[in-house]
Amino acid sequence: MNIRFKTRLPWPLSFSFARAIQNPAMEIWAGDVSNTAAAQAALLKRGMGNQAAREGLYSREWMMDAATVSHNEAVRPVTASLQHQAKVLKRKKYVFGNWKMNTNEAKAKSLAAAIVQGMPLDQSMQVAVFPPFPYLSVVRESLCASGIALGAQNLYPASEGAFTGEVSPGMLLDVGCQYVLLGHSERRQLLTETDAFINQKVRQALAAGLSVVLCIGESLQQRETQQTQQVLDAQLIAGLAGVNSADMQGVIIAYEPLWAIGKQGQQASPKQVQQEQHLIRQRISQMFGQASAESLVVLYGGSVNPDNAAGIFNTLGLDGVLIGADSLNAEQFLAIIQAGVNALVV
Ligand code: 13P
Repeated sequence: MNIRFKTRLPWPLSFSFARAIQNPAMEIWAGDVSNTAAAQAALLKRGMGNQAAREGLYSREWMMDAATVSHNEAVRPVTASLQHQAKVLKRKKYVFGNWKMNTNEAKAKSLAAAIVQGMPLDQSMQVAVFPPFPYLSVVRESLCASGIALGAQNLYPASEGAFTGEVSPGMLLDVGCQYVLLGHSERRQLLTETDAFINQKVRQALAAGLSVVLCIGESLQQRETQQTQQVLDAQLIAGLAGVNSADMQGVIIAYEPLWAIGKQGQQASPKQVQQEQHLIRQRISQMFGQASAESLVVLYGGSVNPDNAAGIFNTLGLDGVLIGADSLNAEQFLAIIQAGVNALVV
């Protein structure tokens, strides 16, 4: 259920921890103090297996096999496999491609097909593309069963009605979208979208079962006048007003400093990205609690390319990237995905 319905579950899906988690450890321990370490390792393995299932990553390797539960000398193999499994359980990496107002039907189709074709087989990567509205359906067909998700670049905060030219959350779900980008700086600037309007969209999207990628970021002038924290805080507070901590499971924050977006822009250094993701988590912790802050997915966007991707992926506390220009070229996009795959095994 966590794999198939993750973005649509109205609540977190977890487990009741009782005998099922304790039994293997109790059998190994059997009241003998010399078995303590093996029992602890078995308990930890079961806990991590449940964590994997909670994240939709459970596989056969988490099963408590006979050797693990009956041998007193299980410590070493269990510890070795725990180290391996801890790597598997590292946080997912995200690579999202915002195609903005680019491509045409034929290009959208072939771009999606080329990405599917070159996509590395790695369950720890979450890749999504955000084509323009008219091409969502053709791209969905190209992505079919590839594991690459579909997202839209905007929505209108109402389920239906007399809103000429607008698109509802339900329509996006209907064409197979899992995600929607909201609060992008280009819309904030060109269309003067306010935080209050963005907040309406966020709430409607979450209520409908879409996952939201909320973009926030400061201008160069705001950075130079030391207002970055204030700006990010204000965008988070207003953008997420009325959202509760359970809904936060469906929210991703994309930090996109305005001065770093576009080929002409400067690019934020890993140190700057690390600082800002920390500020974002701090604010989320104050608003929704520590657990929400820790599990929050934070992306960086702004001139990400195959040359700087490795440095950005290795930024402490960052979960991935939101790419504009380089998501329009399958080779470049795939090279960035590969940088994310490599970062997982470091
Ligand atoms: P670029 O990667 O072209 O700088 O765009 C970033 C962006 O705006 C993604 O939403």
